[in-house]
Amino acid sequence: SAEPRTTAPVLAVDQGTSGTKALVVCPERGVIGSGSADVRPRYGPGGTVEVDPARLLASVVDAGRQALAEAGEPVAAVGLANQGETVLAWDPVTGTPLTDAIVWQDRRAASVCESLGEDEAQELRDLTGLPLDPYFAAPKMAWIRRETTREGVVTTSDAWLVHQLTGAFVTDAATAGRTQLLDLDRVEWSPRALKIFGLDGERLPRVVDAAGPVGTTSAFGPELPLTGLLVDQQAALLAQRVTEPGTAKCTYGTGAFLLAQTGDRPRRGSSGLVSCVAWRLGGRTSYCLDGQVYTAASAVRWLTDLGIVAGAADLDRVGSSVPDSGGVTFVPALAGLAAPWWRADLRGSLTGLGLETGAGHLVRALCEGIAAQVVALADAVAADTGAPLSSLRVDGGLTRSALLMQTQADLLQRPVEVSALSDATALGVGAVARLGVDPSLGVPDAVPDRKPAAVYEPRVPAGVAQERLASFRAAVDALTARAAPQP
Ligand code: G3P
Repeated sequence: SAEPRTTAPVLAVDQGTSGTKALVVCPERGVIGSGSADVRPRYGPGGTVEVDPARLLASVVDAGRQALAEAGEPVAAVGLANQGETVLAWDPVTGTPLTDAIVWQDRRAASVCESLGEDEAQELRDLTGLPLDPYFAAPKMAWIRRETTREGVVTTSDAWLVHQLTGAFVTDAATAGRTQLLDLDRVEWSPRALKIFGLDGERLPRVVDAAGPVGTTSAFGPELPLTGLLVDQQAALLAQRVTEPGTAKCTYGTGAFLLAQTGDRPRRGSSGLVSCVAWRLGGRTSYCLDGQVYTAASAVRWLTDLGIVAGAADLDRVGSSVPDSGGVTFVPALAGLAAPWWRADLRGSLTGLGLETGAGHLVRALCEGIAAQVVALADAVAADTGAPLSSLRVDGGLTRSALLMQTQADLLQRPVEVSALSDATALGVGAVARLGVDPSLGVPDAVPDRKPAAVYEPRVPAGVAQERLASFRAAVDALTARAAPQP
């Protein structure tokens, strides 16, 4: 029927870097169906990370169909979360990809960033809230235009997926904000930013609200309206309901991303964080501060490929074999350093190795390396908002590691609250899809507040935490002392 069915379940799809997760979420009964599919990016020399776009689409369809089959009942709508800064060129008539998708972790667009001057970098930061870094979409779009094809359109992966699913040519305001082409105050494409990147004249997707009908799709079987679109980190932020000052969320996925909401005005900080759109709902924009650890589960996968652990589920077993990292310091900048350092050119370092160093020490050093970067981001949020964090809300696959979570609480010297929502990103975009069906709902009704599933309290004294952070910082300083490439 045409009546909004706000109590009906929705299909929430989280298209992430390493895989797609889909949930059928019922407002009363919670998750009633789930599905997942891997995507496997390819890692190449020079920091390239690519994925076959067809695989992205197939993973969305597979995971969505699995979740619907498990739920075994109709859904009212679909929501789609996306990985943010992943880019491809495609034919807007046929939808055929013209390139592989260049994944957000890919460093190749460093050459584009290096070709721009300091003044342009500052102008872009003022306009878009984003520092110049190959992480963002625009440098990758410019790289594609310079190095591969001038045909078709070049967009973030969400716009292509939505076009494949519904035929619409749109992107939501928060994803648009990850390009470095969006005017942060006006929430529309910036002609000046486009010009700086040599992307003027490009056909860009229409910037839409996160919630609202954008079209219908029969990719999952029955014809369903697509009513929710949001970049993944912001979807998790919404699901975690981090709204009070002094709170932030961190999602430990392929990378780890710490976000704090800043209200209805962008707050351009001075601590090296990204200032960006949290979401636009009902024409109103909320903003957030965002900091990134480019490799979290990616670094665990790296240790796994080396045979040090048998996967993320094995971290705690191997790490518990020793009491500490044995003097090993690991800066797991395997795809460069992001906020607050912004040194895409750097690579990781492993120092303090001895003949006695074992797998357990490396695992502990990795956990400390990830956690210490998150502390740096939390400090930056506190500096920019003037409110020290009282606690940190966390979600994502790696929160299943008690070792990592305890290390995080120890180094942060604050409680770490593990969300009861193990798939916060999908649940966030599911909430947005529900709002898209019934805008009268409002965020509080669409996103219930939940008690954390676990709370990790700091177990080491502040002095010990300070010492560990100081060794990590010294290791980062040793890396950043190396000259950055000059334009
Ligand atoms: O900015 C990229 C990030 O949003 C990707 O998230 O979950 O795939 O690590 P994830």
